[in-house]
Amino acid sequence: MRVAFLSLLTIIAAQNTTQVDFCTASGQALMDGTQNRGGSCSNTIQGNTTQVDFCAASGQVLMDGTQNRGGSCSNTIQGSLPDITKMVSTIILSPSNGDRIEEGTPFVISVKTVNLQLGFFDNPQTEYYLSPQTLNSNGIIEGHQHVVVQALTDGTVPPSAQDFKFFKGLNGESADGVLSVNVTEGIAGVGSHRICTITGSRGHQPVLMPVAQRGSQDDCIRIEIVKKKNGKGGKGFNNVAEDVTEGELERVRHGRRREGRRRFRDRRHRD
Ligand SMILES: *[C@@H]1O[C@H](CO)[C@@H](O)[C@H](O)[C@H]1NC(C)=O
Ligand SMILES: *[C@@H]1O[C@H](CO)[C@@H](O)[C@H](O)[C@H]1NC(C)=O
Repeated sequence: MRVAFLSLLTIIAAQNTTQVDFCTASGQALMDGTQNRGGSCSNTIQGNTTQVDFCAASGQVLMDGTQNRGGSCSNTIQGSLPDITKMVSTIILSPSNGDRIEEGTPFVISVKTVNLQLGFFDNPQTEYYLSPQTLNSNGIIEGHQHVVVQALTDGTVPPSAQDFKFFKGLNGESADGVLSVNVTEGIAGVGSHRICTITGSRGHQPVLMPVAQRGSQDDCIRIEIVKKKNGKGGKGFNNVAEDVTEGELERVRHGRRREGRRRFRDRRHRD
């Protein structure tokens, strides 16, 4: 069952039309528009053929796994929703809310996430938003974390989502749910800053929960970037780390090869 499910996932990544079978293979109840506290599988395409034409009618280009900055239309189904006891929750361990950090000074951001099996991320350059949300065999969402640091003005203006001073995908595995990143250049520019997490499923979409009334899956804190005591200013540039490193991409490719070999073995055993 699990193997068939994994094979199906790979097929899905390659060819979206088989997505209608995703929920059948998941073994979960089909999402029916109620908030099923026991979890369900959301396949809004099934049973409503007009949704298949949604993207055609939108006039937008079809999402193809790249991050299209001009927007696009995604036909990917939402996928598997966990039960209510397995909803994602996150806390930023460090820095502490309200910390004062000197500009241009390195600091580490640490995040603890529960009910998320970390280390699952599809290739963000070619598989973005192509996979439905998936659960591991314990019903926990498979995904990854991100952190983003943005400057705030007076606290009443939402910062532009296009402006950030630091961004990093936390793509590693973690037994205790804790992942960290070193902001090695620190933050340039004094003032109030916001650090937030962005929790993602394997396909980079925000994690989907079984009910609407719940705690947030993400955390945000405010920190104050202050002038360096020795009088010297910060380095004066932003440091936006890559979403995904070459090493991490290689791990994705390696994982795919491993999955492929496992499928080959399973097929041989069946034959
Ligand atoms: C089917 O999907 C379309 C497009 O999203 C929606 O307008 C319509 O209400 C849906 N019909 C049913 C019966 O759910
Ligand atoms: C963070 O990076 C800075 C600059 O490379 C380094 O000096 C510092 O030791 C690092 N901190 C940790 C905890 O790794």
